[in-house]
Order: sequence, then C-alpha cells, then structure tokens
Amino acid sequence: MIKIVPLNDNILKIIINEKESLSFVKEIKKETNLWDYNIKENEIKIIWNKEYKINFKVFIKDHIEIFHDVEENDRIYGLGEKYARLNRRYKRFHMWNVDQQIHLPSGDPTYLSIPFYILANPKKFLGILIDYAGYIYIDTGVRNLNEVFIKIKSDYARIYLIAGKNLKEILRCYSEMTGKPFLPPKWALGYHQSRYSYMDQNEVLEIASEFRKRKIPCDAIYLDIYHMNEFKNFTWDSKRFPNPKEMIEKLKDLKIKLVTIVNAGIKASKGYAVYDKLKEIDGFIKYSNNETFLGIVWPGICAFPDFLNEKVRKLWSYFISEWLNQGIDGIWLDMNEPSIFLILNKDMEKEFEKVLNNELSLFSFVSKFSTNLINKNIGYVKIDAFHNLNGSKIHHDEVHNAYPLFQIISTYEGFIKSNSNKRSFILSRSGFIGIQGYAAVWTGDNQADWSHMEISVPQLLSLGLSGIPFVGADIGGFSDDADPELLIRWFQLGAFYPLFRNHSDINSRRKEPWVFGEEVESMIKEAINLRYKLLPYLYKLFVDSYREGLPIIRPLCLEFPFDENCYDIDDEFMLGDSLLVAPILNPGSKARAVYLPESKWLNLWNGKIYKKGWNFVEADLKTIPVFLKENSAIITTNVKESAEEPWDKITIETFLTKNVNVKIYDDDGITFNYKKGEFFEIELNIKKEKNKLKINTNILNDKFEPSFNKIEVKILNKINIERAFLNNKEYDFSKREGFIFLEFDLKELMGK
Ligand code: GLC
Repeated sequence: MIKIVPLNDNILKIIINEKESLSFVKEIKKETNLWDYNIKENEIKIIWNKEYKINFKVFIKDHIEIFHDVEENDRIYGLGEKYARLNRRYKRFHMWNVDQQIHLPSGDPTYLSIPFYILANPKKFLGILIDYAGYIYIDTGVRNLNEVFIKIKSDYARIYLIAGKNLKEILRCYSEMTGKPFLPPKWALGYHQSRYSYMDQNEVLEIASEFRKRKIPCDAIYLDIYHMNEFKNFTWDSKRFPNPKEMIEKLKDLKIKLVTIVNAGIKASKGYAVYDKLKEIDGFIKYSNNETFLGIVWPGICAFPDFLNEKVRKLWSYFISEWLNQGIDGIWLDMNEPSIFLILNKDMEKEFEKVLNNELSLFSFVSKFSTNLINKNIGYVKIDAFHNLNGSKIHHDEVHNAYPLFQIISTYEGFIKSNSNKRSFILSRSGFIGIQGYAAVWTGDNQADWSHMEISVPQLLSLGLSGIPFVGADIGGFSDDADPELLIRWFQLGAFYPLFRNHSDINSRRKEPWVFGEEVESMIKEAINLRYKLLPYLYKLFVDSYREGLPIIRPLCLEFPFDENCYDIDDEFMLGDSLLVAPILNPGSKARAVYLPESKWLNLWNGKIYKKGWNFVEADLKTIPVFLKENSAIITTNVKESAEEPWDKITIETFLTKNVNVKIYDDDGITFNYKKGEFFEIELNIKKEKNKLKINTNILNDKFEPSFNKIEVKILNKINIERAFLNNKEYDFSKREGFIFLEFDLKELMGK
C-alpha cells in the first residue's frame, strides 16, 4: 500500500494506495543513491545524503492521516497566501479555495491553496508537496508541538519530498516539477490602477489622462464588473460604455493598457450567447442528477463552466480570444474559487422569483438562506457537484482546488489563440500549484488597515516560497477608507511588490494617488517613480524567476540561509539579491529597527553605511528604508510614463569595496521571441584594486538590439579612484556630486 520511489538526487516520492489520478507534477527521473529509506508497516524512515532525517507515520482510513516529525528549530515556510507570519509553525491550515472575507489569522482557508511547505533550519532544507487537489488539513504543531499532522480527504495520496542544500535549490526543483513562472510583458511591471468600479468610459479616460497630466507613470487601468451588461462576462454595458472601441484607441494613444475582469459564474439566461454555447456542449458543472449546478453570484443565478472538460476549455479560450481581439490587453480572473454566494436548491425557487421581479433585493435573499452561504470561516464546504474529466464523471471534492487552475490555463490558451506571439497577462485570485506558469496572483479583499498592510509582507513572501513570484496585494486596502499616511506608506511598500496595483471597493473612499491633495500626491509619485527607475533591475529578476523559479521579493532567509537570525524576520525583505527593503508599517513611525545580515549596507536615501546586526534607521514620511548590499548593484533607468518606454540609458548603481558582478538583460518586452534566443544580455565585472577601477564586460547574448546604448556605472560609496580601465584600456571617468561615474557606449564597445 505504501511505496517509495526516489526520483532523482533531490526528489523522492511516497505513494499511498497507488491510483491513476489527476497529477500536477512533472516527474524528472535520474539515477540516484542519495536517499536511504525504510518502511515498516505504517512507519517510514527517510534519510537524505546521510544528513537530513525525517520519519513518517501513515494511517489509511476512509481518508489518509500522516504524521511527520519536526526538529526543534525547524521553521515551516510556504503554504501560499495564508494569513500567518512567514514561519507557519504551530498553526492549523485548510486547503480549500474560498472567497475569504476575514483577512486575519482566523480567516482560513483562503482564496488559493498550495499544499507545499518547506522545513528549514540552517542545517536542513526539505520541501513537502502533496499532489492532490481536494481538501487537505495541515496542523503544523498544534496537536503535537514537534509534529506535523496532515489529513487528506481521499483514499490515496502522492507526496514528494524535495531536499536541497539551501532554500533556493528547493525552489528550483519545485519549479522544475510544477512549472517555471511565465515571463510577463514589460508593461505588467509598471503601475496598475483599479477601482470597483470605474463606472463609464468617460471616467476611465479621465483617470487615464489624469495620470498623464500629473506626470505620474501608469501602465494599466482595470475595468471591474460594471463594464458588463448585467454582469455577464464578455459583454459591454451599452449605456456606460457606448463606444469601447473608441475608449480602447484613446487608451492606446495614452500608452495605457486595459485589463478587464472576468468572473467564473455565467449568468444562466437563455439568449446569452456564452451561456447558450456552453449549454450546447453540455459544458457546465452538474448536480448528481445530471442537471446543471446553479448558484448565485453577481449576475444572479449562474452556472459554472466545467473547466476540467477539454471541450469547455477550448470554447472558453475562444471567448477569451474574441474578447481580447477588441484590443484588450489583460484578463483579471475573479471569483474563481469558485465563489458562490448561495448554492441554489429547489426550496429557494419561489423566493427567488421575488428577486427577479424586483420585490426582494438579492442581498436580502442571500441573507435569508444564509445557512447555505458558503463563504464562511469553515474548513471545508461540500459542493455536491460533478465534472466531466475526459469522459468520466469526477466529484468536485477531488478537484476543487484545481478548478481555477484549469480556468487559468484555458484563459492563457485564449491569449495564444488571439496572438500566438504575444505574452499574456492574467491576474487571478484563486489558484493551485502550477499557477505560476500562467498568471499573477493578488491576495483578494484586504482592508485599509495597517495590520493588513503588515500581513501582506509575509503573505507575498510565502507565495514566493510556494513557487509563485508575480504577486501583489491591493495597495491602500480594498475595503474601508485609507488615511493619507497609510496610503503613502502602502505606496512606498507597494512599489516593491512584484505586482504594483492600487484597487479599492465601491463603498470606500477613492484611493488614486492624488485623492489627498498635492503634498501626499508628491510623496506617492516619488514611490511610483522609484518603481519605474528600478525597472531594468526588476525585469532581470523576472527573467531569473522564469529561468530558475526564484521569487522576486524574498525573505531574508532565502538570501542568507545560514544566518538563523533571518529565519523569523518578515517585516523586511530582499528585492532580488542586492536590495533590502524595510517598510514602515506603523502609523506615526519615523524610524524603525532593521536587521541587516552579514555584509555592509548602504542606505539608498542618504548614502549612510551600516553594519551587520540590529540598526535603528530613521525614515520620515517621504522615505522607505532601502539598503544596497556591499559589492552588489542595482540597474536603473529613467522612464517617464510607461514601462514599455525604451530605457535609453542604463545606470549601474553600485556599493563597491572589492568586486561586483552584474548582468543586464533586455528583449522586446512583448513577444515570445526571447524563447528563440532573441534577447540581449551583458555581464559586467566591476573591480576596485587599490585606487584603480577596472570594468570588464562580457556580452552573453546579442541576438536582440537593446533599447539602450549608453551604460553608466555610478559608485554610490565614497572611494578614492585615480585611474579607470574598461576592458583593460584606460578610460575616462568623472566625479560629480561626490559620486564616481564612468559612462560608455554599447555600440562602440561591440564594435558597431
Ligand atoms: C471581489 C474581488 C474584488 C472586486 C469585487 C467586484 O470582491 O476580490 O477585487 O473588486 O469582487 O468585482
């Protein structure tokens, strides 16, 4: 019943009751002798590389129970976006996607489920992945302090152990098994403006021109549900949006992309083409009696496309491609847990007629039957429905968490259908392992509250440690009203979120950058400008992420796995491997304590240099503490309006005491041509040898002509340089405002 298969040097598979079933893992098999294991009845002992030991106990009932030991100083990382600190130990978690309104530790489960976690201490790095899309309960040390207890609501299980020498190696292996992150178009790295809802096309255009008028960079505007006719996907409300074509053209002139919301529920209404076509192919999820499963969401009674069915995915990708063909740039997939306000049954029909006749509000109706309301803080909600998976009937229970993943894949196919050589942009609320290959994720409906801003940091860091790098939280908080200080501090933090989006609820005070007057606007603008300045550095991080599965923002322990002081810090983070960001997370704070790991660090705002350890750092309202690691660099540029603008000049800003290696990457930012090798990559080695500055360049790939020609090296710390050399030839350098600069021409360097 229990079988163990070492797959390669890093991965071992535990099979409990072997069964052909949906899998989300690509197995890579290679000879290995690093794993020692032993099974005795229900006990498994595993040793990796003679170093890491872990013991499991397995009980097979009508479900599966697994226990494994945890060492005293192990931390537990990962498990997606849960509302818990970075170290997930001593908690209980439910894996079951729901529309979670309580953004507090008691609000579990959440929108997205990632049954993957890493046990880590400075001497052990061991990942555990459960390849199952139904309900899983994970107790990380409540029942027994030094034990993890897992309950899988299934009679079979496949578990993968992933061992590595550090956290990065685990993430690299995880991404090889579950898919490398997608490389987004450049514009998606810019600032995104959203609101539930921009009510008509004039408002959309006003918002867009406001950005340009105020010279605040912006790359995308989102349309929430009010752009639709009766909240029906892929339709326009003709009163509010009489001429979408014209609106789209005007946005294009302003270089602003358009992203529209698409919900999972389809209004069950004959004559609505999307519903009719799906019905025609028998493409909805069903009750056990074979009738279409119905529930209430925004449009009223809805049916839910059965994305597990290949025919449905094909049709859906057609809807998406037709929708995109109007000139729409991105798709925002919401309510795809799937969120259902109320599951409809026969008893409710009469009462629901009153809603249809406007005698009763939808809200009163839903409240009346609230015992059926599924958005509750409970672990598991039975949705008694069935899917059609390659011709066989499969209960929703077995696939619930993967429902959004199949929708996302089919949406991605819609992008490819619309233009096979254009990168996609999908933002999704719900998801499952593998989502990183297709979509970005935001953390749902948070609130305008300091605690929600604070928890967003461990949430996003944990998503990164769960293999999902392109993530963000609604800046300013979705619901409730932000005050000026909160909005400023959240923008300063959000400028470092991989997804930089401001979004707010219909009932909340507006949260666009200018709503609190000029002074606040100028500070927010500075945060947005900083984001755009860092684009070349950020873009290279997205490329690294696509190549190696690494997060964009990283907990300190990822970069410093052998410094145990870093293991529980989750109010600071690294952007890539060079920058340490320590956001201000409390009202009134004009300073904070910052832990700085091994190295020296240069404060980007004032050039002050700090040592390893706890430091007291000041940060007035204009400032977010950001530090550059010794002998590392960031790559900056100067774009004005949008992330698609050419970079013209690149500046390598470095804190140099000995030796820095830095790579710059560029491609067209739009197409998949980079997959054919059409990108530019250059490596620079910058060395200080006594009072000589030596720069050596190495072109790694030149099959794309980069958007910049000038490269400038700027040394941010005070050093004494008397002579400089570029590729071993003496070269001019200058001193300005206390900094050393050396600038060269790329074409000249390449002999063009
Ligand atoms: C959900 C989404 C939110 C959106 C709202 C209306 O609550 O999480 O972002 O604005 O629905 O569509």
